[in-house]
Amino acid sequence: MDLANISIIGTGYVGLVTGVCFAELGNRVVCVDVNKERVKKINSSVPPIYEKGLEELLEKNIKNKRMRASSDLKEAVLSTDVSFICVGTPSGVIDYIDLKYVREVSRDIGTIIKDKDYHLVVVKSTVVPGTTEHSVVPLLEKHSQKTAGKDFGVVMNPEFLREGNAIEDFLHPDRIVIGGIDERSTNMLNEVYKDFDCPIFKTNPRTAEMIKYATNSFLVTKISFINEIGNICKSLGIDVYEVAKGLGMDSRVSPEFLSAGIGFGGSCFPKDVKALVGKATEVYYRPIVLNAALELNEGQPLRMVELLERKIDSLKDVRVVVLGLAFKPGTDDMREAPSIKIIHNLLNKGAVICATDPKAIAKAKKIFGTHERLKFSASAEDAVKFGRYILIVTEWDEFRNKELYKGKVVIDGRKVEEARAADEYEGVCW
Ligand SMILES: NC(=O)c1ccc[n+]([C@@H]2O[C@H](COP(=O)([O-])OP(=O)(O)OC[C@H]3O[C@@H](n4cnc5c(N)ncnc54)[C@H](O)[C@@H]3O)[C@@H](O)[C@H]2O)c1
Repeated sequence: MDLANISIIGTGYVGLVTGVCFAELGNRVVCVDVNKERVKKINSSVPPIYEKGLEELLEKNIKNKRMRASSDLKEAVLSTDVSFICVGTPSGVIDYIDLKYVREVSRDIGTIIKDKDYHLVVVKSTVVPGTTEHSVVPLLEKHSQKTAGKDFGVVMNPEFLREGNAIEDFLHPDRIVIGGIDERSTNMLNEVYKDFDCPIFKTNPRTAEMIKYATNSFLVTKISFINEIGNICKSLGIDVYEVAKGLGMDSRVSPEFLSAGIGFGGSCFPKDVKALVGKATEVYYRPIVLNAALELNEGQPLRMVELLERKIDSLKDVRVVVLGLAFKPGTDDMREAPSIKIIHNLLNKGAVICATDPKAIAKAKKIFGTHERLKFSASAEDAVKFGRYILIVTEWDEFRNKELYKGKVVIDGRKVEEARAADEYEGVCW
């Protein structure tokens, strides 16, 4: 296979970035979504999400006709050789993972490939170990009345990109994991990735699924670990960032993911670790380390509010500025963002809030609705005029400006050095 004809099902952070990047590499790509508004936006070169560099690449590849979007799954699958399933896999209301979107797409693709020559189905969504073999493959076989491995191929190919750096991460990954059900499937996907300059790790589907969960669980544990060290350091009068520097010089540890603060959020870390805990419990194993990492993370954002209360006793009618809403800089994603817990907690205690974020205000407004004690400001310069007390929740570059903090009382959750220009400055765990 030279350049591939690829369909991408689901055009969220992973699907759209995957589609745009494969198009950029010269492949022909059709991105499918049930959300017609998204499809319309993509075809007009307007990214439905914010991600650095996405708009330029999207515009280029729509213009040169290597990429298009559609809401017609059948036409997309029939006109391509490979389909990547990139739909969401959120936490379930009752279950630890909601696989309904993956199941729906597997069923629909199965029906469509009934009368088609060999087709490769790639599961890129994060799914708990066993899902590809016990759910995706049987659904494809049932609805196509064909045999996996003979009439069509299936691969589990987890995605490791980070929001905020998604395009760079997709194009230059540390490794690509290919968990094929057979050699033909594995080789075909290997060919799609042939221009990538990184190790390609070939394994079976359930191991590929577990590699994704092990990666996120490890990173989550590392974050909670350094936050715990930070909490202890603060009580002992030690700067945890100095400690992390010395610790990270140990090659067995590495300096990555040692930034103490208010903990992790986002669409993946919390839900993926909860899903693995759920899967482990299903096989009668109680994960001690993972549960502890989650528990520590639950309380970490609220330490900011506790520190503020120690300074002013009651938060009733106190005007508080919240700098940052997105779960991290470089994205508009608000899923499980620490800002949500912090703002709810401040509101419950009677505070009056002005919040700002360079990209996430629209999403935040949907989450909080209208509240008489919460308003949003378009810029940090404007937001800080609202009050004396400032909480730094997301470390956007826009907040790295000493002028914002002069004459203020700052509780810093993200180690923004410029905030030390404040009248009073305190870090959450330093
Ligand atoms: N966001 C990340 O940083 C990231 C990183 C690695 C892996 N993942 C995993 O990738 C998967 C997708 O994550 P995301 O953040 O891109 O999700 P998302 O919620 O941003 O996007 C999912 C998209 O799928 C669409 N969709 C749902 N059902 C569909 C159907 N039947 N047909 C076509 N489209 C459909 C939705 O409309 C939505 O646009 C998840 O399993 C996630 O855990 C995410």
